Amino acid sequence: MCGIIGCTGAFPALDVLRGGLRALEYRGYDSAGIAFFNADSDILTVKASGKIKNLEDKLDTIPDSEKISFCGIGHTRWATHGEPTERNAHPHGNDRVQIVHNGIIENYRELSVMLSREGYSFKSETDTEVASLLIDFSYKKQGNDPLKALAKARSQLEGSYAIGAVFSDRAGEIYAMRRDNPLIIGLGESESFIASDITAILPYTRKYIRLGENEIARLSGKNVTVFDEYGNACEKQTETALWDVDSAKKGGYPHFMIKEIYEEPDALAKTLAPRISSDLLPNFEGENIDVKRLASSKRIIITACGTAMHAGFIAKYFIEKYARIPVNVEIASEMRYSDMIIDENDAVIVISQSGETADTLAALRLAKNKGAFVTSVVNVVGSTIARESDAVIYTWAGPEIAVASTKAYVVQSALMSLLALAMSLEKKILTESEVKALTGKLLHDLPSDIKYILDMRDEIYSAAQYFADKKDLFCVGRGIDYFAAVEASLKIKEVSYIHSEAYAAGEMKHGTISLIENGTPVIVVSTDKNVRQKIVGNIRELASRGAYIISLSTPDREISDVSDKMLSLPSESGEFLPIAVATLLQMIAYRAAVLKGCDVDCPRNLAKSVTVE
Ligand code: M6R
Repeated sequence: MCGIIGCTGAFPALDVLRGGLRALEYRGYDSAGIAFFNADSDILTVKASGKIKNLEDKLDTIPDSEKISFCGIGHTRWATHGEPTERNAHPHGNDRVQIVHNGIIENYRELSVMLSREGYSFKSETDTEVASLLIDFSYKKQGNDPLKALAKARSQLEGSYAIGAVFSDRAGEIYAMRRDNPLIIGLGESESFIASDITAILPYTRKYIRLGENEIARLSGKNVTVFDEYGNACEKQTETALWDVDSAKKGGYPHFMIKEIYEEPDALAKTLAPRISSDLLPNFEGENIDVKRLASSKRIIITACGTAMHAGFIAKYFIEKYARIPVNVEIASEMRYSDMIIDENDAVIVISQSGETADTLAALRLAKNKGAFVTSVVNVVGSTIARESDAVIYTWAGPEIAVASTKAYVVQSALMSLLALAMSLEKKILTESEVKALTGKLLHDLPSDIKYILDMRDEIYSAAQYFADKKDLFCVGRGIDYFAAVEASLKIKEVSYIHSEAYAAGEMKHGTISLIENGTPVIVVSTDKNVRQKIVGNIRELASRGAYIISLSTPDREISDVSDKMLSLPSESGEFLPIAVATLLQMIAYRAAVLKGCDVDCPRNLAKSVTVE
């Protein structure tokens, strides 16, 4: 999704803006732009469609003397209103005001009619330009007072926004305001910053404050003042980011996606170890969650989007198995507009890497409004979902930069499995010694199986090579393996652009098997020994119709015999092997994308953090 960066103070603004935009690339974008005060205190605006390189090429044509600047704002745009052209790129505005904006202004049509009546005309198709001209209109009416202008505009704007603004007669100052869209303010020694997320400003500072709902901020050098919705200056709590600069860099890997896959064993250790006692019992004491309350729920509703929702499927499997609590997994974008039967007796668990996904946040708010107790599982500390939940458990995966979620999924799945064991203990379903054995598998054997898988380079290459030039493929499994197949299918589509469908293997013959032709690739996940014989039957049905079977299974002569290719899985992690299988499937998806020359870290049309509906 769009990204915002801004700086004022001691550092050369263009260096900070370029670096910040590069750091925000991972969020997904299709055009970029900056506006900055030059040495004469005039605002210069430069924009380009496509990659940041195009913007840099344009900047290179400007004489150096024109680029001396210590204050500016920048933006990466992920198109919502209007095509990804230079005309629609941010910043937007006129000779008095320029703004960058994340989010969607829902009443932009009505506002544009009003502004047209006041003599304004529009150069772009964007809702952002309407917001910028509304701010300009208020600015003129409010005696050129930026704070009053923004407050007036705030009362008229509907929708979600994080806005950074510069005013031509306020050189060196940046203004910011937000509603339902995150924005942080970085605090430096002699400078300050605005940013969509901490990764954009990590080279300069780890200290930041979060701009609250409907607050407005004024930044000038190191001086930052935040005003509440009544216009009063307010105290803000300074936070310190735990992530370091290197964690947001590729560190020698060709892509963030592969770097993050290799980080999985470490991310698992960081997430699980603090929650497991020395005698291998789950231990959530001292954390802001209520295991007793979760364990006593009649029903648990898990809601999330995309890969995070798929981690919810893994959670469902283990909570139902170990804690015997029925679990519904709901697509957040559906749940938010549903008339779902949900009340204070329900426990709701929200899963999100970013903690900012708009649909997930809306589902959370719906659940809270209906009286449910909401626990969130979040990777980004202090994110909106974390703050709005009744309880939160953090995954400690570190920054996930690649659009494709990999390490976040693995740690979410493992953490939810541990929580299932804690609930089981609470309900006295599994004995302590049974739980200890399983916890040991999660803590020690799962990371070791993942490390084994990370070394299966040749097998991964050969599997990916088979289907990299195909148009369609299927991923199938049964039970928990079906859930693993669903996530594999998303990962393959997302990064390699190969159409892929996930199916419960036994369901193929009820319609979809008609799509199987000679050579159609079918990835079969088979870890669940209870349905092993069934999956062998399913493979035979598919193979006899020409499917090219790539099986993922622990060593198994029969499965190997009925498959065209079998990737032999380790087995130490036992029941948790499907989580390790995700690593293998992520590697296969990655390799196929690389073979096809896809933009692995920023797949087309996608954004990392989906902060609009
Ligand atoms: O930040 P979140 O976990 O809430 O994001 C949810 C989905 O947008 C995300 O998992 C998405 O499906 C991934 N890009 C898939 O790899």
